[in-house]
Amino acid sequence: MPDNGAPVINYGLVGVYIADSKICKVDGTAGRLYYRGYSIDLLAKNSSYEEVCYLILYGHLPTNEELDSFKKKLIDARPLPDMVIDVIEEFAKKQDPMDTLRSAVSALSAYDNKMDDRTESANLDRGVNLISKMASIVATIGRYRRGGGYVQPDSSLSHAENLLYMMNGTKPSQKDAKLLDLMLILHAEHSSNASTFSTLVAGSTLADLYSAVTSGIAALKGPLHGGADEAALKMMKTIGDPDNTETYIDEALKGKNKIMGFGHRVYKTYDPRAMIIKNDLMSLQENESQEVKTLTAIALRAEKMMIDRLGKTHGIWPNIDFFAGPIYVSMGMSIEMFTPIFAASRIVGWCAHMIEYWKDNRIFRPLEYYSGPLDLQYVPVGERK
Ligand code: CMC
Repeated sequence: MPDNGAPVINYGLVGVYIADSKICKVDGTAGRLYYRGYSIDLLAKNSSYEEVCYLILYGHLPTNEELDSFKKKLIDARPLPDMVIDVIEEFAKKQDPMDTLRSAVSALSAYDNKMDDRTESANLDRGVNLISKMASIVATIGRYRRGGGYVQPDSSLSHAENLLYMMNGTKPSQKDAKLLDLMLILHAEHSSNASTFSTLVAGSTLADLYSAVTSGIAALKGPLHGGADEAALKMMKTIGDPDNTETYIDEALKGKNKIMGFGHRVYKTYDPRAMIIKNDLMSLQENESQEVKTLTAIALRAEKMMIDRLGKTHGIWPNIDFFAGPIYVSMGMSIEMFTPIFAASRIVGWCAHMIEYWKDNRIFRPLEYYSGPLDLQYVPVGERK
């Protein structure tokens, strides 16, 4: 307690543990990430988004039968109700896609005819439905923003392939489908980040899963969290020419501006997800457009400068959002769809954490230190100066 009697305030809840979880380990010192004990490197190399979702939700890697049955559930849940398509059609061109996503996901509760069933198994089924429908919603938002209409899902396609198909109206290339699958795996889960915490806070009141994840979507939108991938790409586009990179970064840092896609509350070293994305981006270069090559050159020069300036001294290293932009550009994805794609992936983490937290639920109710006046005189409105 400081001298003036005020308590120590943990702004941003820095250093505060909020739960005991078996879902995800972020080792910010070693730069390692594990989902249910499996390293992200192993999963990125060997797995698929569907398998990773199963792992995160149910706690173990599926057998063939379990995976087939899980995939079938995801496929069956893909079509969107007409009213949700109407919401998307109405809003898609008028607002940020994250806002449309929030409204469309919120509307899904109208189609849940077992809303009163709060058992774990009902919530797991809801989670599977949400994973599937979020991808369809994100794809449909992207589609309507480009002036297209609703594309019926194709049950022969994987989760990532189908998302791209519903968004673009054409079957994706192997390269694009593989890249999106990788991006979905890397974004699927990340412990008690702001959007997962927001999900838990809403759900800890015993509000339902739709309410909880809608809160997660709202929290993900901001540029300090999920929105950083869009902000990082906008910065690269503003830099424009690789030779401008050092001057731009130098001036931004002198002006005390943050460089989006760098820094992390937990990682004080290279984010392992950023390293995987960077390696993939480098391996793509040969067949890429001039735009992707230029963005990559800018990203590499910015990365070097930031590491030299702030890496070892301040623990500010590239995070997952830094190299994501050029990868999405190489897939022809519009910039404003990056964060919705992030949400369509992170939905599994939100659901898994919520379901785990409900096992031993306690409402979140932290304290605020009141430092304003007390016992002021009430002056009637007409007598106030
Ligand atoms: N560029 C320049 N300086 C930075 C950066 C950055 N990207 N990040 C942190 N700093 C500085 C910051 O200015 C502060 O300096 P000082 O102590 O002199 O005031 C110091 O480092 C500590 O920063 P902080 O914002 O207090 O740290 P935090 O742990 O509260 O925030 C963060 C973590 C991720 C919000 C922050 O690093 C940041 O704003 N980064 C840019 C946004 C970003 O890339 N977000 C994506 C995070 S990873 C994926 C996700 O969560 O969605």
